[in-house]
Amino acid sequence: MANQEELFRKIISHAKEYGFIFQSSEIYDGLSAVYDYGQYGVELKNNIREYWWKNMVQFNENIVGLDAAIFMHPTVWKASSHVDAFSDPMLDNKDSRKRYRADVLVEDYIAKIEDKINKEVEKARKRFGETFDEKMYLETNPRVVEYKTKITEIKARFFPALDRNDLAEVKKVIEDLEIACPVSGTRNWTDVRQFNLMFATQMGSLSEDASQIYLRPETAQGIFVNFLNVMKTGRMKVPFGIAQTGKAFRNEIVARQFIFRMREFEQMEMQFFIKPGEEMKWYEHWKEKRMEWHLSLGIPASRYRYHDHDKLAHYANAACDIEFEFPFGFKELEGIHSRTDFDLNAHQQYSGKKLQYFDPETNESYVPYVVETSIGLDRTFLAILSFAYTEEKLDDGSERVVLKIPPRIAPVKVAVLPLVKKDGLPEKAREIFDILKTDFYCQYDEKDAIGRRYRRQDAIGTPYCVTIDNITLEDYTVTIRERDSMKQERVDIDALHQLVSEKVRKNLME
Ligand code: GAP
Repeated sequence: MANQEELFRKIISHAKEYGFIFQSSEIYDGLSAVYDYGQYGVELKNNIREYWWKNMVQFNENIVGLDAAIFMHPTVWKASSHVDAFSDPMLDNKDSRKRYRADVLVEDYIAKIEDKINKEVEKARKRFGETFDEKMYLETNPRVVEYKTKITEIKARFFPALDRNDLAEVKKVIEDLEIACPVSGTRNWTDVRQFNLMFATQMGSLSEDASQIYLRPETAQGIFVNFLNVMKTGRMKVPFGIAQTGKAFRNEIVARQFIFRMREFEQMEMQFFIKPGEEMKWYEHWKEKRMEWHLSLGIPASRYRYHDHDKLAHYANAACDIEFEFPFGFKELEGIHSRTDFDLNAHQQYSGKKLQYFDPETNESYVPYVVETSIGLDRTFLAILSFAYTEEKLDDGSERVVLKIPPRIAPVKVAVLPLVKKDGLPEKAREIFDILKTDFYCQYDEKDAIGRRYRRQDAIGTPYCVTIDNITLEDYTVTIRERDSMKQERVDIDALHQLVSEKVRKNLME
């Protein structure tokens, strides 16, 4: 774990040092849990978004896009139940004055017990060797059974209390478990209270005319309220989907782990409208399709897992997360939710407008059910960055840091490097740069020794470096260096565009 913490710290400082991510308003000491994307960060983020969009919209005939406004009529959030139910149970430690989510405190406590179980298993595995039967051990070892019973008892007491909104009992569980504040180390807690996560602001220029509106906490509602518009104007037939990417805002009280949990972030969501009764089929379909998309990025399957929800949100009849193994453990990256007809029904009720689909086959109208896929763009960015960050010791004893980002989404695709700054090489390099730049984001660099320039490109994840040397002037060839293998190949300038194109334009889902 210490190693993983160290790794995470290095990833964060690398992201800053190389222009991927900056703290917002840094010259004013920053704004907590808000981040800006720098010159390479914005490229990587755009490329991830574009890759998601292509695979969801362009490759699915029955999915279309939308770009709804961030501001929406305030009743939207009443109908969606965000005004009444989008809150977290929080409590403060009176000594450190730090605020915590009650469920996070208890989940962290449970995670510690699970860690102890895992340690027991590992010890036993070493002791028994090949004859070790993990299933049997988990069921019979007295210490493990005791830990497991404790977890079951905590869950059986805590989660129903949360569901009932019994905040006194929620606090009592925390006290009974003797959970201490990680900062002050004391158990001097305030009562637990619910905090709504939506940011509110005023619309209208005169304060007396102003009405309170919210910054959207999810993009999904923009899709629901446009369901009729898109269905009619796009002549859509159920099943069909509407996809959208955009900013969402949540006043996260416990905002931590860099860009994992932010107050302003970006979502990529798709609502798939289906016939009621078919939701389980489509739920399974999208679970599988979305996992395929993640795996297409080339990150090993062992870094992902499904986590089915035991406790369902009020709108869902099935839900799961795709979790990714970040340096701080497996955490939610994407949610797949079977949302029933909750949202369309609620908007129908609050707006008084019929939000139904007429089925020409049965001559009946119904409110479609919805299966949603909802992924955080920033979290995907962090997952890719965490996977890509690699420290390598090279044969000559030197070291390099390389970001092994899939070429398809790498910020800079090609670096064009004249070997020296004379003999007509820069001019030739500029010619090549001009050929490539119309189709690929390229970088021209003539400063410093070639080795240092390669390292700079490795550090931002550029998959190809093209070097122009004196032979180029004679036979019209260049060397192309591949980032991960560092292998160099001599190729004709005429073949360069095609070669790069095959590698960086490849759709990874194929
Ligand atoms: N429309 C459903 C919805 O919003 P969610 O599970 O609350 O579901 C979906 O959010 C995804 O949005 C999450 O899986 C996560 O990737 C991302 N996300 C949620 N809150 C976030 C935050 N505070 N910072 C960064 N990403 C966040």
